[in-house]
Amino acid sequence: MRARITGTGSYSPSNVLTNADLERMVATSDEWIRERTGIRERHIAGAGEACSDLAVQAGKRALAAAGIAPTDLDMILLATCTGDYPLPATACLVQHQLGATKAAACDLSAACCGFVYALSVADAYVKTGMRHVLVIGSEVMSAITDWTDRNTCILFGDGAGAAVISASDGERGILSTHLRSDGNLCELIAVPGGGSRTPPSEKVIAERMQFIKMKGNETFKVAVRTLEEIARETLEANHLRVEDLDLYVPHQANMRILKAVVDRLGLPLEKVMLNLDRYGNTSAASIPIALDEAVRAGRIKDGSLVMLGAFGAGLTWASSLIRW
Ligand code: COA
Repeated sequence: MRARITGTGSYSPSNVLTNADLERMVATSDEWIRERTGIRERHIAGAGEACSDLAVQAGKRALAAAGIAPTDLDMILLATCTGDYPLPATACLVQHQLGATKAAACDLSAACCGFVYALSVADAYVKTGMRHVLVIGSEVMSAITDWTDRNTCILFGDGAGAAVISASDGERGILSTHLRSDGNLCELIAVPGGGSRTPPSEKVIAERMQFIKMKGNETFKVAVRTLEEIARETLEANHLRVEDLDLYVPHQANMRILKAVVDRLGLPLEKVMLNLDRYGNTSAASIPIALDEAVRAGRIKDGSLVMLGAFGAGLTWASSLIRW
């Protein structure tokens, strides 16, 4: 028995922030952003629109695609680093809004790897008896972005993506998931203030410690190395080759990172799902949004061999191989 993705969905807020808009906010240019990152625009949540609001919309679409009712869910796993509140878990707010009255619900924090980590948890639960698990990646990155810092504010966007994972007989489904971390590199991407180490205070606000800080250049190099390594490890574990892949769905962080990774793997760009030009980096939401677009565009069909690849703060990196 395998855990299979039986439905996907995604949701993006209607506000769009273009590179031209950013030119009016910080010392940057559309040309610089496109050349260095590949991003043209990103969606930004409206006033009062929180992580759970995005997650509920994506979750509803995934449930509709899977053809199951909210009451069929055994569990909701929400990957996010921008939940509505520190407490309770945002997944519980989503559970209530969806009316998933029989579902357990909790959040999972693994930054941009959150969706793949959550998928691996869902895989394990389904293999040990659960029937349907809703996995959501939802982020309001704009809430932790410093809109005066040109090094980071050009990169991120808001959105949500979701997938229903169901028990299924046969060969199709999640073949394997591979998860890694290296806390020694925790300072490459961090929000230093607002947690138990440095609780909210006037000093935190004055020093803008509630926002993401990133060492972009170093992160870039580690991302290329870890994404290549984990992709190779995943294929080897399944006795498959790069040529066997139908589609690679990577975390949409930076076009240059992804080009370097697929060059090293020897994977043609036509086999890579790319939408970061329209979304920017939506952290845990990035892979499920890309996955949903690929499914709806007919780029993933029954029997397709699909690999997910993620890296992010922690540092964490992860991958999953799926026979659709
Ligand atoms: N517009 C114009 N210039 C900018 C800029 C911006 N938005 N941001 C930085 N610069 C400047 C820098 O200040 C620097 O100027 P200097 O040489 O006068 O000091 C110059 O551009 C080069 O900066 P550098 O950081 O070396 O650029 P880069 O080529 O590494 O690109 C990133 C910067 C952030 C785009 C790139 O490092 C990156 O994408 N890293 C990975 C980040 C990531 O994906 N993080 C999320 C992981 S989940």
